[in-house]
Amino acid sequence: MLSTLDDLKHRLQTALVSAFGPELEGTDPVLVPTNNPKFGDYQANVAMSLAKQLKDKPRAIATKIVENLTIDDICEAPQIAGPGFINLKFKTDYLQTQLKAVYADDRLGVPTAAPALRTIVDFSSPNIAKEMHVGHLRSTIIGECIARTLEFLGHDVLRLNHVGDWGTQFGMLITHLRDVCPEATTEASSVDIGDLVEFYKQAKKRFDEDDAFKTQSREAVVDLQSGKEDARRAWQVLCEQSRKEFQKIYDRLDITIQERGESFYNPLLDNVVTDLTSLGLLEEDQGAQVVFLEGFTNKDGNPQPLIVRKSDGGFNYATTDLAAIRQRTIDEKAARIIYITDAGQANHFAQVFQVANRANWIPEAVELVHVPFGLVKGEDGKKLKTRSGETVKLKSLLDEAVIRAEKDLKQRITDENRDESADFIQNVSTAVGIGAVKYADLSQNRTSDYIFSFDKMLALQGNTAPYMLYAYVRVQGISRKGGIDFSQLGDAAILLGDEAELNLAKHLLELDTVVVEVARDLFPNRLCQYLFELSQKFNQFYDRCSVLQADEPQRTSRLMLCDLTARTLKLGLSLLGIPVLGRM
Ligand code: ARG
Repeated sequence: MLSTLDDLKHRLQTALVSAFGPELEGTDPVLVPTNNPKFGDYQANVAMSLAKQLKDKPRAIATKIVENLTIDDICEAPQIAGPGFINLKFKTDYLQTQLKAVYADDRLGVPTAAPALRTIVDFSSPNIAKEMHVGHLRSTIIGECIARTLEFLGHDVLRLNHVGDWGTQFGMLITHLRDVCPEATTEASSVDIGDLVEFYKQAKKRFDEDDAFKTQSREAVVDLQSGKEDARRAWQVLCEQSRKEFQKIYDRLDITIQERGESFYNPLLDNVVTDLTSLGLLEEDQGAQVVFLEGFTNKDGNPQPLIVRKSDGGFNYATTDLAAIRQRTIDEKAARIIYITDAGQANHFAQVFQVANRANWIPEAVELVHVPFGLVKGEDGKKLKTRSGETVKLKSLLDEAVIRAEKDLKQRITDENRDESADFIQNVSTAVGIGAVKYADLSQNRTSDYIFSFDKMLALQGNTAPYMLYAYVRVQGISRKGGIDFSQLGDAAILLGDEAELNLAKHLLELDTVVVEVARDLFPNRLCQYLFELSQKFNQFYDRCSVLQADEPQRTSRLMLCDLTARTLKLGLSLLGIPVLGRM
């Protein structure tokens, strides 16, 4: 089925070509929703943007487009307004037929992508022996949503956890642990991740202050790199311990991801250096092997170097990402690689991409995208901290969200005089608490910093998970109350009479456009906004139009609108990683 908006766009494009010739093939008709329903549903602004090129008045151009437009099966007669807007209003008949088709479709009118692309989503990616922090939480939540959306469209997605599991820090950590807590280097369960983080800090301090320790640490790195048994074992134990901790968070958030840490690329690092050398891109700079970057200058105005091999012979974060690009394009055959990290790494990725490009390591059709996001801040606008000033642990953050959701729920249960089981309370609080944290993150434009507020994210009103979940529950309540089996309504007609029904219907028909947009632009907040408006439009419809009390055939038609709204919410929320509830 051609989506409603694609259909409009296509018709306008055909009209442009028949009016002005094949040069205009593929021209964007600049279709936007009208800001006032009295002008119709959509307006095409292309006449204005073509005026210069066609050397004519926009109104004349608009007239010519309309004369060539075959659209009467889907729209009322187009109106030209103002300087040359073409106003379009859907025919109710057309909307009814479209909606019926969406209703009958398990994918709710969202087509699968052609071609399906092999896509890597590199997300979450915390560091071993360090705490997973809120930045990683953001990457995890956004990455999961992007992966789900792409998978739903039929892309072949490989979700990769590029954990920081390699580097000189392991030398000092292992050396320190051997002194203070040797069992931590042999037995995975013997040390808590929180302690590891503490040990890491102590190790760093000793490294900076104590020369003998420094030498020992360096030796440990060499041992590790050369694969010496006990160093290797100690490193594995640390990774194992961190991995278990990370997994607890992933389980709570329902995250699916495959670990492929930096160490995976170790065997490929030498080749990065060799090949960059033979390409003539590598130069020596103060003992290090570097590529001088184009468009990045240091404070003296000289080209900035990207260090590929340090003066001590070690490789770094950028070298690993260069090796990963090659491995992912060649071995994994990725057509699109998406990296989800905080905006602070924008330069890192721009530089790595540039070097890979200049080395011709990025095949023509491959797209590398960095998906940056802003910082998570406390309600005071500063870095998120606990009351006593420590960094917030993810576990406690999720715990608190659930505890607060539970408190709200219990209050509601008491107010409404309901009797609910402990199981019910636990399920609902968990779903609402975790869902609220995810939704709060996803509903922000990811590029801005976002203020973490339990009160806001758990509010029943506004652009929040509870509001969305509640709209879904409302529909389930209708089916319970009326003894309706939604799956049995399928053959009836959908009849759109009331303004609120029409508004809801038109919005329901935009799901496909939104999902495709999210997959293309990688902004999950677009989907959140869509679902928020859907809930609002549904609530307006439900406040204005009786459903169970209505007469047939209106009653069944309205039940179908309710059902389709619920199915759309369920699908949309599932792409955000949020499961719906039957009751709450
Ligand atoms: N481990 C890194 C960090 O915590 C994120 C890794 C992102 N992925 C990548 N391919 N560089 O900042």
